[in-house]
Amino acid sequence: MPSQAKILVVDDERLIRWTLVQALGELGHEVSEAADGAAALAQVAAEAPDLVILDIRLPGLGGLEVLQALRREHPETSVVMISAHGTLETAVEAMKLGAADYIRKPFQAADVQHTVSRLLTSQRAERERDLVLGREARSYGLESLVGVSDSMQQVRGLIAQLSAAGASTVLVEGESGTGKGLVARLLHYTGPRGRKPFVEVSCTALAEGLVESELFGHERGAFTDAKARKQGLLELADGGTVFLDEIGDMPLAAQAKLLRAMEDRLFKRVGGVRDIRVDVQVVAATHRDLGQAVAEGRFRKDLYYRLAVVRIALPPLTAHREDIPLLAEAFIRHYNRELGRSLTGVSPAALSLLGAYRWPGNVRELRNVIERAVLLGTHPELQPEDLPAGIAQPTAHEPHASGLSSLPPSGLSMQEVERGLILRALQAEGGNQTHAARRLGISRDTLRYRMKKFGLGAEAG
Ligand SMILES: Nc1ncnc2c1ncn2[C@@H]1O[C@H](COP(=O)(O)OP(=O)(O)OP(=O)(O)O)[C@@H](O)[C@H]1O
Ligand SMILES: [Mg+2]
Repeated sequence: MPSQAKILVVDDERLIRWTLVQALGELGHEVSEAADGAAALAQVAAEAPDLVILDIRLPGLGGLEVLQALRREHPETSVVMISAHGTLETAVEAMKLGAADYIRKPFQAADVQHTVSRLLTSQRAERERDLVLGREARSYGLESLVGVSDSMQQVRGLIAQLSAAGASTVLVEGESGTGKGLVARLLHYTGPRGRKPFVEVSCTALAEGLVESELFGHERGAFTDAKARKQGLLELADGGTVFLDEIGDMPLAAQAKLLRAMEDRLFKRVGGVRDIRVDVQVVAATHRDLGQAVAEGRFRKDLYYRLAVVRIALPPLTAHREDIPLLAEAFIRHYNRELGRSLTGVSPAALSLLGAYRWPGNVRELRNVIERAVLLGTHPELQPEDLPAGIAQPTAHEPHASGLSSLPPSGLSMQEVERGLILRALQAEGGNQTHAARRLGISRDTLRYRMKKFGLGAEAG
Protein backbone atom coordinates (compact mmCIF):
# COMPACT_ATOMS: atom_id res chain seq x y z
CA MET A 1 0.00 0.00 0.00
CA PRO A 2 1.29 3.46 -0.78
CA SER A 3 2.47 5.49 2.18
CA GLN A 4 0.45 8.35 3.58
CA ALA A 5 -0.83 10.91 1.11
CA LYS A 6 -2.58 14.27 1.34
CA ILE A 7 -6.11 14.13 -0.02
CA LEU A 8 -8.74 16.85 -0.41
CA VAL A 9 -12.40 15.89 -0.50
CA VAL A 10 -14.75 18.34 -2.26
CA ASP A 11 -18.52 17.86 -1.96
CA ASP A 12 -21.38 20.10 -0.89
CA GLU A 13 -23.07 17.26 1.04
CA ARG A 14 -21.68 16.93 4.53
CA LEU A 15 -22.53 13.26 4.82
CA ILE A 16 -20.59 12.38 1.69
CA ARG A 17 -17.57 14.34 2.89
CA TRP A 18 -17.76 12.58 6.24
CA THR A 19 -17.95 9.12 4.61
CA LEU A 20 -14.94 9.87 2.44
CA VAL A 21 -12.90 11.30 5.29
CA GLN A 22 -13.59 8.15 7.33
CA ALA A 23 -12.79 5.75 4.50
CA LEU A 24 -9.52 7.47 3.56
CA GLY A 25 -8.52 8.19 7.15
CA GLU A 26 -8.70 4.43 7.72
CA LEU A 27 -5.96 4.01 5.13
CA GLY A 28 -3.78 6.41 7.08
CA HIS A 29 -4.09 9.37 4.72
CA GLU A 30 -4.26 12.98 5.78
CA VAL A 31 -7.66 14.19 4.58
CA SER A 32 -9.09 17.69 4.43
CA GLU A 33 -12.47 18.95 3.16
CA ALA A 34 -13.97 21.72 1.07
CA ALA A 35 -17.67 22.38 0.44
CA ASP A 36 -17.48 24.31 -2.85
CA GLY A 37 -15.27 24.92 -5.88
CA ALA A 38 -13.76 28.24 -4.84
CA ALA A 39 -12.75 26.88 -1.43
CA ALA A 40 -11.34 23.80 -3.15
CA LEU A 41 -9.07 25.85 -5.43
CA ALA A 42 -7.81 27.92 -2.52
CA GLN A 43 -7.08 24.81 -0.46
CA VAL A 44 -5.24 23.06 -3.27
CA ALA A 45 -3.05 26.13 -3.69
CA ALA A 46 -2.32 26.20 0.03
CA GLU A 47 -1.96 22.48 0.79
CA ALA A 48 -0.75 20.96 -2.50
CA PRO A 49 -2.56 17.64 -1.98
CA ASP A 50 -1.53 14.53 -3.93
CA LEU A 51 -5.10 13.80 -4.86
CA VAL A 52 -8.47 15.57 -4.98
CA ILE A 53 -11.82 13.80 -4.87
CA LEU A 54 -14.26 16.14 -6.55
CA ASP A 55 -18.04 16.05 -6.94
CA ILE A 56 -19.19 16.83 -10.46
CA ARG A 57 -22.25 18.73 -9.26
CA LEU A 58 -21.22 21.61 -7.10
CA PRO A 59 -23.01 24.88 -6.36
CA GLY A 60 -21.37 27.93 -7.94
CA LEU A 61 -18.19 26.92 -9.75
CA GLY A 62 -19.08 23.52 -11.26
CA GLY A 63 -17.00 20.36 -10.82
CA LEU A 64 -15.79 20.33 -14.43
CA GLU A 65 -14.63 23.94 -14.20
CA VAL A 66 -12.75 23.18 -11.01
CA LEU A 67 -11.22 20.14 -12.72
CA GLN A 68 -9.99 22.26 -15.63
CA ALA A 69 -8.49 24.86 -13.33
CA LEU A 70 -6.73 22.13 -11.34
CA ARG A 71 -5.30 20.44 -14.43
CA ARG A 72 -4.01 23.78 -15.64
CA GLU A 73 -2.57 25.09 -12.41
CA HIS A 74 -1.66 21.94 -10.48
CA PRO A 75 -1.01 19.22 -13.06
CA GLU A 76 0.87 17.09 -10.50
CA THR A 77 -2.33 16.65 -8.44
CA SER A 78 -4.58 13.77 -9.56
CA VAL A 79 -8.33 14.33 -9.60
CA VAL A 80 -11.00 11.68 -9.06
CA MET A 81 -14.55 12.74 -9.91
CA ILE A 82 -17.69 11.64 -8.12
CA SER A 83 -20.68 11.37 -10.39
CA ALA A 84 -24.27 10.74 -9.45
CA HIS A 85 -26.69 8.44 -11.24
CA GLY A 86 -27.36 9.41 -14.81
CA THR A 87 -24.38 11.68 -15.24
CA LEU A 88 -22.21 9.13 -16.96
CA GLU A 89 -21.69 11.37 -20.01
CA THR A 90 -20.38 14.07 -17.72
CA ALA A 91 -18.04 11.53 -16.14
CA VAL A 92 -16.72 10.62 -19.58
CA GLU A 93 -16.21 14.27 -20.35
CA ALA A 94 -14.34 14.64 -17.06
CA MET A 95 -11.97 11.83 -18.08
CA LYS A 96 -11.33 13.65 -21.35
CA LEU A 97 -10.52 16.79 -19.40
CA GLY A 98 -7.88 14.93 -17.47
CA ALA A 99 -9.57 13.34 -14.45
CA ALA A 100 -7.63 10.28 -13.33
CA ASP A 101 -10.78 8.26 -12.63
CA TYR A 102 -14.34 8.54 -11.40
CA ILE A 103 -16.45 6.99 -8.69
CA ARG A 104 -20.21 6.54 -9.07
CA LYS A 105 -22.70 7.43 -6.40
CA PRO A 106 -23.85 5.62 -4.41
CA PHE A 107 -20.47 4.12 -3.50
CA GLN A 108 -19.02 1.70 -0.96
CA ALA A 109 -16.11 2.81 1.19
CA ALA A 110 -14.11 -0.13 -0.19
CA ASP A 111 -14.54 1.11 -3.79
CA VAL A 112 -13.16 4.49 -2.88
CA GLN A 113 -10.29 2.98 -0.93
CA HIS A 114 -9.41 0.71 -3.81
CA THR A 115 -9.52 3.44 -6.46
CA VAL A 116 -7.47 5.84 -4.35
CA SER A 117 -4.81 3.25 -3.45
CA ARG A 118 -4.42 2.26 -7.07
CA LEU A 119 -4.03 5.85 -8.23
CA LEU A 120 -1.57 6.76 -5.50
CA THR A 121 0.56 3.72 -6.32
CA SER A 122 0.79 4.59 -10.00
CA GLN A 123 1.31 8.27 -9.17
CA ARG A 124 4.20 7.36 -6.96
CA ALA A 125 5.71 5.03 -9.55
CA GLU A 126 5.45 7.79 -12.11
CA ARG A 127 7.08 10.34 -9.82
CA GLU A 128 9.92 7.95 -9.08
CA ARG A 129 10.34 7.30 -12.77
CA ASP A 130 10.47 11.03 -13.46
CA LEU A 131 13.02 11.42 -10.76
CA VAL A 132 15.20 8.64 -12.10
CA LEU A 133 14.82 9.82 -15.68
CA GLY A 134 15.46 13.39 -14.63
CA ARG A 135 18.56 12.31 -12.80
CA GLU A 136 19.70 10.17 -15.69
CA ALA A 137 19.01 12.91 -18.17
CA ARG A 138 21.00 15.34 -16.07
CA SER A 139 23.99 13.05 -15.80
CA TYR A 140 23.93 12.65 -19.57
CA GLY A 141 24.57 16.20 -20.65
CA LEU A 142 26.82 16.66 -23.69
CA GLU A 143 29.67 17.65 -21.37
CA SER A 144 29.84 14.07 -20.12
CA LEU A 145 31.57 13.28 -23.41
CA VAL A 146 34.91 14.65 -22.29
CA GLY A 147 37.61 15.92 -24.62
CA VAL A 148 38.96 19.01 -26.33
CA SER A 149 40.40 17.22 -29.35
CA ASP A 150 38.93 18.03 -32.74
CA SER A 151 37.39 14.59 -32.89
CA MET A 152 35.58 14.87 -29.54
CA GLN A 153 34.38 18.38 -30.38
CA GLN A 154 33.07 17.12 -33.67
CA VAL A 155 31.24 14.26 -32.00
CA ARG A 156 29.61 16.62 -29.49
CA GLY A 157 28.64 18.95 -32.34
CA LEU A 158 27.11 16.10 -34.31
CA ILE A 159 25.12 14.84 -31.34
CA ALA A 160 23.76 18.34 -30.71
CA GLN A 161 22.77 18.70 -34.37
CA LEU A 162 21.16 15.28 -34.53
CA SER A 163 19.25 15.78 -31.28
CA ALA A 164 17.90 19.08 -32.51
CA ALA A 165 16.87 17.58 -35.84
CA GLY A 166 15.35 14.53 -34.14
CA ALA A 167 17.30 12.22 -36.47
CA SER A 168 15.86 8.75 -36.33
CA THR A 169 18.72 6.48 -37.38
CA VAL A 170 22.36 6.73 -36.39
CA LEU A 171 25.26 4.29 -36.75
CA VAL A 172 28.01 4.62 -34.14
CA GLU A 173 31.32 3.00 -35.04
CA GLY A 174 34.41 2.51 -32.95
CA GLU A 175 36.67 0.00 -31.27
CA SER A 176 35.78 -1.47 -27.92
CA GLY A 177 35.75 1.08 -25.11
CA THR A 178 35.74 4.18 -27.32
CA GLY A 179 32.40 5.46 -26.00
CA LYS A 180 29.76 4.02 -28.35
CA GLY A 181 27.37 3.28 -25.52
CA LEU A 182 27.87 6.74 -24.08
CA VAL A 183 27.16 8.38 -27.44
CA ALA A 184 24.00 6.30 -27.86
CA ARG A 185 22.73 7.50 -24.47
CA LEU A 186 23.58 11.09 -25.26
CA LEU A 187 21.68 10.85 -28.54
CA HIS A 188 18.67 9.72 -26.57
CA TYR A 189 18.81 11.76 -23.37
CA THR A 190 19.77 15.08 -24.95
CA GLY A 191 17.13 14.76 -27.67
CA PRO A 192 13.34 15.22 -27.79
CA ARG A 193 12.81 11.57 -26.82
CA GLY A 194 14.82 11.90 -23.62
CA ARG A 195 11.92 11.27 -21.27
CA LYS A 196 10.71 8.22 -23.17
CA PRO A 197 12.25 4.75 -22.84
CA PHE A 198 15.83 3.95 -23.83
CA VAL A 199 15.99 0.24 -24.58
CA GLU A 200 19.37 -1.40 -25.01
CA VAL A 201 19.70 -4.63 -26.97
CA SER A 202 22.95 -6.52 -27.10
CA CYS A 203 22.76 -8.34 -30.43
CA THR A 204 25.68 -10.53 -29.36
CA ALA A 205 23.90 -11.78 -26.26
CA LEU A 206 20.67 -12.72 -28.06
CA ALA A 207 20.34 -16.43 -28.72
CA GLU A 208 20.13 -17.02 -32.45
CA GLY A 209 16.62 -18.48 -32.42
CA LEU A 210 15.22 -15.86 -30.08
CA VAL A 211 16.38 -12.61 -31.66
CA GLU A 212 13.14 -12.06 -33.52
CA SER A 213 10.91 -12.82 -30.59
CA GLU A 214 13.01 -10.54 -28.37
CA LEU A 215 12.89 -7.66 -30.83
CA PHE A 216 9.40 -8.00 -32.20
CA GLY A 217 7.62 -9.98 -29.51
CA HIS A 218 5.51 -13.05 -30.05
CA GLU A 219 1.92 -14.21 -29.84
CA ARG A 220 0.83 -16.94 -27.51
CA GLY A 221 1.62 -20.34 -28.98
CA ALA A 222 3.91 -18.93 -31.70
CA PHE A 223 6.42 -21.62 -30.72
CA THR A 224 6.68 -24.34 -28.09
CA ASP A 225 7.85 -22.11 -25.25
CA ALA A 226 5.57 -19.20 -26.08
CA LYS A 227 3.15 -19.72 -23.22
CA ALA A 228 1.89 -16.17 -23.25
CA ARG A 229 1.94 -13.23 -25.58
CA LYS A 230 5.00 -11.05 -25.16
CA GLN A 231 5.78 -7.52 -26.26
CA GLY A 232 9.04 -7.10 -28.10
CA LEU A 233 11.77 -4.62 -27.27
CA LEU A 234 10.80 -2.40 -30.20
CA GLU A 235 7.32 -2.08 -28.77
CA LEU A 236 8.68 -1.33 -25.32
CA ALA A 237 10.84 1.43 -26.78
CA ASP A 238 7.89 3.11 -28.48
CA GLY A 239 8.33 6.87 -28.50
CA GLY A 240 11.93 6.49 -27.36
CA THR A 241 15.14 4.93 -28.61
CA VAL A 242 16.24 1.39 -29.23
CA PHE A 243 20.00 0.94 -29.00
CA LEU A 244 21.14 -2.06 -31.05
CA ASP A 245 24.60 -2.77 -29.69
CA GLU A 246 26.95 -4.86 -31.86
CA ILE A 247 24.50 -4.90 -34.71
CA GLY A 248 27.12 -6.71 -36.80
CA ASP A 249 26.28 -9.82 -34.79
CA MET A 250 22.60 -9.82 -35.71
CA PRO A 251 21.52 -12.91 -37.68
CA LEU A 252 20.55 -12.29 -41.32
CA ALA A 253 16.87 -13.23 -40.93
CA ALA A 254 16.39 -10.74 -38.12
CA GLN A 255 18.20 -8.11 -40.20
CA ALA A 256 15.59 -8.43 -42.95
CA LYS A 257 12.74 -7.98 -40.52
CA LEU A 258 14.46 -5.08 -38.81
CA LEU A 259 14.96 -3.30 -42.13
CA ARG A 260 11.28 -3.60 -42.92
CA ALA A 261 10.33 -2.37 -39.48
CA MET A 262 12.59 0.64 -39.93
CA GLU A 263 11.26 1.50 -43.35
CA ASP A 264 7.55 1.04 -42.73
CA ARG A 265 7.60 1.60 -38.95
CA LEU A 266 5.44 -1.54 -38.93
CA PHE A 267 6.06 -5.14 -37.98
CA LYS A 268 4.23 -8.24 -36.83
CA ARG A 269 4.91 -10.19 -33.67
CA VAL A 270 6.29 -13.68 -34.24
CA GLY A 271 3.23 -15.82 -34.96
CA GLY A 272 1.08 -12.71 -35.25
CA VAL A 273 -1.01 -11.34 -38.10
CA ARG A 274 -1.68 -7.84 -36.88
CA ASP A 275 0.65 -5.00 -37.86
CA ILE A 276 2.14 -3.16 -34.95
CA ARG A 277 3.11 0.44 -35.42
CA VAL A 278 5.98 1.97 -33.50
CA ASP A 279 7.85 5.21 -33.51
CA VAL A 280 11.41 4.61 -32.37
CA GLN A 281 14.77 6.18 -32.95
CA VAL A 282 17.30 3.51 -33.87
CA VAL A 283 20.88 3.88 -32.72
CA ALA A 284 23.10 1.01 -33.82
CA ALA A 285 26.68 0.44 -32.74
CA THR A 286 29.41 -1.77 -34.07
CA HIS A 287 33.09 -2.38 -33.41
CA ARG A 288 33.36 -4.23 -36.72
CA ASP A 289 33.77 -2.84 -40.17
CA LEU A 290 30.20 -3.34 -41.42
CA GLY A 291 31.24 -2.56 -45.00
CA GLN A 292 33.57 -5.54 -44.76
CA ALA A 293 30.80 -7.68 -43.28
CA VAL A 294 28.62 -6.73 -46.26
CA ALA A 295 31.39 -7.71 -48.66
CA GLU A 296 31.62 -11.07 -46.91
CA GLY A 297 27.86 -11.62 -47.05
CA ARG A 298 27.43 -11.54 -43.28
CA PHE A 299 25.48 -8.31 -43.24
CA ARG A 300 22.65 -7.13 -45.48
CA LYS A 301 23.71 -4.39 -47.82
CA ASP A 302 20.30 -2.67 -47.79
CA LEU A 303 20.24 -2.55 -44.00
CA TYR A 304 23.79 -1.25 -43.99
CA TYR A 305 22.87 1.63 -46.30
CA ARG A 306 19.79 2.37 -44.25
CA LEU A 307 21.82 2.51 -41.04
CA ALA A 308 24.79 4.34 -42.47
CA VAL A 309 22.94 7.51 -43.49
CA VAL A 310 24.24 9.21 -40.37
CA ARG A 311 27.47 7.84 -38.94
CA ILE A 312 29.47 8.80 -35.92
CA ALA A 313 32.98 7.37 -35.94
CA LEU A 314 34.73 7.25 -32.57
CA PRO A 315 38.53 7.24 -32.79
CA PRO A 316 40.74 4.97 -30.69
CA LEU A 317 42.11 6.77 -27.64
CA THR A 318 45.62 6.91 -29.08
CA ALA A 319 44.26 9.01 -31.94
CA HIS A 320 43.22 11.69 -29.43
CA ARG A 321 45.88 11.40 -26.77
CA GLU A 322 45.56 15.11 -26.03
CA ASP A 323 42.31 14.27 -24.20
CA ILE A 324 44.01 11.88 -21.77
CA PRO A 325 44.68 14.53 -19.07
CA LEU A 326 41.09 15.79 -19.12
CA LEU A 327 39.64 12.30 -19.16
CA ALA A 328 41.88 11.28 -16.28
CA GLU A 329 40.78 14.33 -14.27
CA ALA A 330 37.12 13.62 -14.99
CA PHE A 331 37.46 9.99 -13.88
CA ILE A 332 39.35 11.04 -10.76
CA ARG A 333 36.49 13.38 -9.81
CA HIS A 334 33.99 10.62 -10.50
CA TYR A 335 35.79 7.98 -8.41
CA ASN A 336 36.61 10.43 -5.64
CA ARG A 337 32.88 10.84 -5.22
CA GLU A 338 32.06 7.19 -5.64
CA LEU A 339 34.81 5.83 -3.41
CA GLY A 340 34.92 8.67 -0.90
CA ARG A 341 38.52 9.62 -1.73
CA SER A 342 40.06 13.01 -2.40
CA LEU A 343 42.84 12.73 -4.94
CA THR A 344 43.76 16.11 -6.31
CA GLY A 345 45.01 15.08 -9.74
CA VAL A 346 47.70 13.26 -11.69
CA SER A 347 51.41 13.91 -11.15
CA PRO A 348 53.35 14.96 -14.25
CA ALA A 349 55.35 11.71 -14.21
CA ALA A 350 52.20 9.57 -14.12
CA LEU A 351 50.59 11.71 -16.77
CA SER A 352 53.44 11.19 -19.17
CA LEU A 353 53.16 7.43 -18.67
CA LEU A 354 49.43 7.59 -19.40
CA GLY A 355 50.18 9.62 -22.49
CA ALA A 356 52.69 7.08 -23.82
CA TYR A 357 50.69 3.88 -23.29
CA ARG A 358 48.95 2.23 -26.23
CA TRP A 359 45.49 1.77 -24.65
CA PRO A 360 44.13 -1.29 -26.46
CA GLY A 361 40.98 -0.99 -24.30
CA ASN A 362 40.63 2.70 -25.10
CA VAL A 363 38.74 5.06 -22.75
CA ARG A 364 37.24 2.18 -20.79
CA GLU A 365 40.73 0.94 -19.96
CA LEU A 366 41.79 4.42 -18.87
CA ARG A 367 38.73 4.62 -16.69
CA ASN A 368 39.54 1.28 -15.05
CA VAL A 369 43.15 2.29 -14.50
CA ILE A 370 42.04 5.49 -12.77
CA GLU A 371 39.48 3.67 -10.66
CA ARG A 372 42.15 1.31 -9.39
CA ALA A 373 44.56 4.18 -8.73
CA VAL A 374 41.98 6.19 -6.83
CA LEU A 375 41.23 3.14 -4.73
CA LEU A 376 44.83 2.15 -4.00
CA GLY A 377 46.66 5.48 -4.22
CA THR A 378 48.30 6.75 -1.05
CA HIS A 379 49.45 10.19 -2.24
CA PRO A 380 47.38 13.30 -2.81
CA GLU A 381 48.30 13.08 -6.50
CA LEU A 382 48.19 9.95 -8.59
CA GLN A 383 51.78 8.63 -8.94
CA PRO A 384 53.47 6.24 -11.38
CA GLU A 385 53.49 3.52 -8.71
CA ASP A 386 49.67 3.66 -8.57
CA LEU A 387 49.55 2.50 -12.19
CA PRO A 388 49.51 -1.14 -13.33
CA ALA A 389 52.90 -2.57 -14.28
CA GLY A 390 52.25 -2.54 -18.01
CA ILE A 391 51.81 1.21 -17.92
CA ALA A 392 54.29 2.07 -15.18
CA GLN A 393 57.24 0.28 -16.85
CA PRO A 394 56.58 0.77 -20.51
CA THR A 395 60.03 -0.39 -21.62
CA ALA A 396 59.63 -3.84 -20.09
CA HIS A 397 56.62 -4.65 -22.24
CA GLU A 398 56.66 -2.14 -25.00
CA PRO A 399 60.16 -1.58 -26.31
CA HIS A 400 60.48 1.95 -27.47
CA ALA A 401 60.08 1.69 -31.17
CA SER A 402 63.07 3.78 -32.09
CA GLY A 403 65.46 1.85 -29.90
CA LEU A 404 67.79 4.83 -30.12
CA SER A 405 69.72 5.33 -26.95
CA SER A 406 71.98 8.03 -28.28
CA LEU A 407 72.33 10.10 -31.38
CA PRO A 408 74.77 8.68 -33.91
CA PRO A 409 77.68 11.13 -34.32
CA SER A 410 77.08 11.26 -38.05
CA GLY A 411 73.59 12.70 -37.42
CA LEU A 412 70.44 11.19 -38.82
CA SER A 413 67.53 12.03 -41.03
CA MET A 414 64.25 12.50 -39.13
CA GLN A 415 62.46 11.39 -42.24
CA GLU A 416 64.40 8.14 -42.31
CA VAL A 417 63.64 7.56 -38.63
CA GLU A 418 59.96 8.21 -39.20
CA ARG A 419 59.84 5.98 -42.24
CA GLY A 420 61.60 3.25 -40.30
CA LEU A 421 59.17 3.56 -37.40
CA ILE A 422 56.17 3.32 -39.68
CA LEU A 423 57.57 0.24 -41.36
CA ARG A 424 58.29 -1.41 -38.04
CA ALA A 425 54.85 -0.61 -36.67
CA LEU A 426 53.22 -2.05 -39.77
CA GLN A 427 55.33 -5.16 -39.55
CA ALA A 428 54.62 -5.60 -35.87
CA GLU A 429 50.89 -5.33 -36.52
CA GLY A 430 50.89 -7.66 -39.50
CA GLY A 431 50.10 -4.84 -41.90
CA ASN A 432 46.97 -3.70 -40.05
CA GLN A 433 46.98 0.06 -40.57
CA THR A 434 44.52 0.85 -37.79
CA HIS A 435 46.63 -1.00 -35.25
CA ALA A 436 49.90 0.35 -36.61
CA ALA A 437 48.53 3.89 -36.38
CA ARG A 438 47.47 3.29 -32.82
CA ARG A 439 50.90 1.97 -31.96
CA LEU A 440 52.42 5.14 -33.32
CA GLY A 441 49.89 7.38 -31.64
CA ILE A 442 48.65 8.91 -34.88
CA SER A 443 45.36 8.64 -36.74
CA ARG A 444 44.89 6.17 -39.54
CA ASP A 445 44.54 9.03 -42.00
CA THR A 446 47.83 10.49 -40.86
CA LEU A 447 49.44 7.08 -41.23
CA ARG A 448 48.06 6.68 -44.74
CA TYR A 449 49.25 10.15 -45.66
CA ARG A 450 52.76 9.47 -44.39
CA MET A 451 52.90 6.05 -46.02
CA LYS A 452 52.18 7.75 -49.29
CA LYS A 453 54.74 10.43 -48.60
CA PHE A 454 57.43 7.85 -47.89
CA GLY A 455 56.39 5.71 -50.81
CA LEU A 456 55.23 2.86 -48.60
CA GLY A 457 52.48 1.05 -50.41
CA ALA A 458 49.99 -1.40 -49.03
CA GLU A 459 52.69 -4.05 -49.45
CA ALA A 460 54.65 -2.38 -46.65
CA GLY A 461 53.23 -4.78 -44.06
N1 LIG B 1 34.88 10.88 -24.35
C1 LIG B 1 34.51 10.31 -23.21
N2 LIG B 1 34.32 11.06 -22.11
C2 LIG B 1 33.96 10.51 -20.93
N3 LIG B 1 33.78 9.20 -20.74
C3 LIG B 1 33.95 8.39 -21.79
C4 LIG B 1 34.31 8.90 -23.07
N4 LIG B 1 34.40 7.86 -23.93
C5 LIG B 1 34.09 6.76 -23.22
N5 LIG B 1 33.83 7.08 -21.95
C6 LIG B 1 33.52 6.14 -20.86
O1 LIG B 1 34.31 4.99 -21.07
C7 LIG B 1 33.58 3.80 -20.78
C8 LIG B 1 33.50 2.93 -22.02
O2 LIG B 1 32.65 3.56 -22.96
P1 LIG B 1 31.47 2.77 -23.70
O3 LIG B 1 30.94 1.69 -22.82
O4 LIG B 1 30.52 3.78 -24.20
O5 LIG B 1 32.32 2.14 -24.88
P2 LIG B 1 31.83 1.21 -26.07
O6 LIG B 1 32.41 1.79 -27.29
O7 LIG B 1 30.36 1.03 -26.01
O8 LIG B 1 32.58 -0.12 -25.74
P3 LIG B 1 32.17 -1.66 -26.16
O9 LIG B 1 32.35 -1.78 -27.63
O10 LIG B 1 33.18 -2.47 -25.40
O11 LIG B 1 30.78 -1.85 -25.71
C9 LIG B 1 32.24 4.25 -20.30
O12 LIG B 1 32.28 4.30 -18.90
C10 LIG B 1 32.08 5.64 -20.88
O13 LIG B 1 31.24 6.43 -20.09
MG1 LIG C 1 29.20 -0.59 -25.48
